[in-house]
Amino acid sequence: MTDAAQPPVNTAELYMPSPEVVEQAIVKDYDALYRRAAEDPESFWAEQAETLEWFRRWDKVLETARAPFYQWFVGGKINIAHNALDRHIKTWRKNKIALIWEGEAGDTRTYSYYRLWQEVNKFGNVLRSLGVRKGDRVTIYMGRVPELMIAMLACAKIGAVHSVVYGGFSEQALADRIEDAQSRVLVTQDGAWLRGQIVELKKIADEAVRRSPVVEHVVVLKRTGHEVAMEPDRDYWWHDLMALPIASTKCETEVMDAEDPLFILYTSGTTGKPKGILHTHGGYAVYVSTTLRYVFDLKDEDRWWCAADPGWITGHSYIVYAPTILGATSFMYEGAPTHPYPNRWWKLVEYYGITVMYTAPTAIRGLMRFGAAWPNRHDLSSLRLLGSVGEPINPEAWKWFYEVIGKKRCPIMDTWWQTETGGFMIAPLPITPLKPGSATRPLPGIIADVVDEEGNSVPPGQDGLLVIKQPWPGMLRTIFGDAERYIRQYWSKFAEKGWYLTGDSARKDEDGYIWIIGRIDDVIKVSGYRLGTAEVESGLVSHPAVAEAAAIGLPDELKGNIIYAYCILRQGYEASPALEEALKNHVRHEVGPIAVPAKIEFVSALPKTRSGKIMRRVLKARALGQPEGDLSTLEE
Ligand code: WT7
Repeated sequence: MTDAAQPPVNTAELYMPSPEVVEQAIVKDYDALYRRAAEDPESFWAEQAETLEWFRRWDKVLETARAPFYQWFVGGKINIAHNALDRHIKTWRKNKIALIWEGEAGDTRTYSYYRLWQEVNKFGNVLRSLGVRKGDRVTIYMGRVPELMIAMLACAKIGAVHSVVYGGFSEQALADRIEDAQSRVLVTQDGAWLRGQIVELKKIADEAVRRSPVVEHVVVLKRTGHEVAMEPDRDYWWHDLMALPIASTKCETEVMDAEDPLFILYTSGTTGKPKGILHTHGGYAVYVSTTLRYVFDLKDEDRWWCAADPGWITGHSYIVYAPTILGATSFMYEGAPTHPYPNRWWKLVEYYGITVMYTAPTAIRGLMRFGAAWPNRHDLSSLRLLGSVGEPINPEAWKWFYEVIGKKRCPIMDTWWQTETGGFMIAPLPITPLKPGSATRPLPGIIADVVDEEGNSVPPGQDGLLVIKQPWPGMLRTIFGDAERYIRQYWSKFAEKGWYLTGDSARKDEDGYIWIIGRIDDVIKVSGYRLGTAEVESGLVSHPAVAEAAAIGLPDELKGNIIYAYCILRQGYEASPALEEALKNHVRHEVGPIAVPAKIEFVSALPKTRSGKIMRRVLKARALGQPEGDLSTLEE
């Protein structure tokens, strides 16, 4: 279903924005802005950069001398946390609400910009007192709580590089990420609430630290209050540290180079080793704030809800950084959308008067299942704009979101982008006529195309590779500790042309609208989460029963894709339902719940090339009952 969103070119299904939406829109003429940005990208980006406060202005907007190691706003001095917090404290926004938060149990907290700034300063001082200095990495492993945002901003403020690991990852996945980043400090919490249950974050963190002993200090937020083990001289309670005299509300903001690293965020690629995507202070700040302002039209009166997890790029860019840079009011919710009933989200929209809501197709499909009666119980008239991200949105889910939630008044901003791109790349503006299932056209400043293997633009309606032909300020700068992989992965395919390879296939239609088809590599999108087949496979083979494993993604109504795995057992092990269960548990424990295969099939051989590479495409074709294609490289 999501493997091929929808056949393109159906102009009959054009959804026009309402006059109220158009009237409010910040950008009124897409074509004019797009043309201006394309004619002179550097002055376009300089203009966007001027909306931020710089300690020193840049000398050069874009440096291409060391391409593909592009540099933006060279010579500029800035700190993203200064733009997210410090500068608002000098204005009326000091007393504006920055964040409204609701816990799964219904407890709430509200932070003004002033309050958030104070907490960030305090935690910045705490981190400094633990020996964290500019450039040091700090791993953060938490649930959806305000302190996650505070910890991230505090790192940024003191020039440390945060590496947030999503709370849905488990022991080995966390250990690998700590090890790769060489973090000496880990920030976590006792447990997180999810569906009324406790996710044992501290327990998982303890095991991860045992496996990656580079960690010297663990800061533990008390959230669930259940008993957890605390290691003397290593583990400290967040509230104890924040009560110390050292945790003053004044904390000097580190002056950073525009190109100094801000964070590492690990994402899945084609090998089992996660890629540490590196973003910087300057270009990233410019890019995320510009894109949020243009696409979601965010204004001071808005109440913005990005329902993603801050542990993913969506949360980094559009919960933590862009909204605060714009001085917006954000809402964050801790728990599951269906807890205790499937109306929870709609109740929150009504209660907090959410005006712009941004979520993922998988969440929409999940809530759609419970029927329209749940949202219909609530007054959703505060909503003005809706958004979607993470995978192609199937037209059925699109229409449900549009009609049942948005009451045909709210356009849906289907935003295509990646961890690597930092922010939205292909997305409508509120004024854009929409086609359900298409992210529409590239944003001003972005040159995207669909090309064949040789780099020729393919005609409308034909599949090809999605490429970006020009650098942009929010682009990743490298893969942490692996510059060679950065070049190989993203820039080697069209090296002489200098194009960025996205890893997605797509089609363009007659109107220039882009339709994303799916990944061309061994990456599977499960409920919008990005997973490498290799991560699932290495989780499986780390069990003593498994000799070899192969994982593929198969289309699924609800999750977009599910994982299907094939295992060859070692001698002495018998295939059985109990073993299948044990292997699933093993993957849950080692990699995380999101990596658990829906089904494991025991086989005696796997299709391989002569060089020994597993041919996942053959497995997939067989599972789907489709022709197996070219088998000339198959060994047996
Ligand atoms: C991959 C990137 C960007 C934040 C969350 C995902 C897929 C993302 C869309 C969309 C179709 C999409 C692509 C992309 N994807 N947004 N609107 N329509 N596909 O970030 O985990 O780095 O995954 O997600 O396949 O390459 P990510």
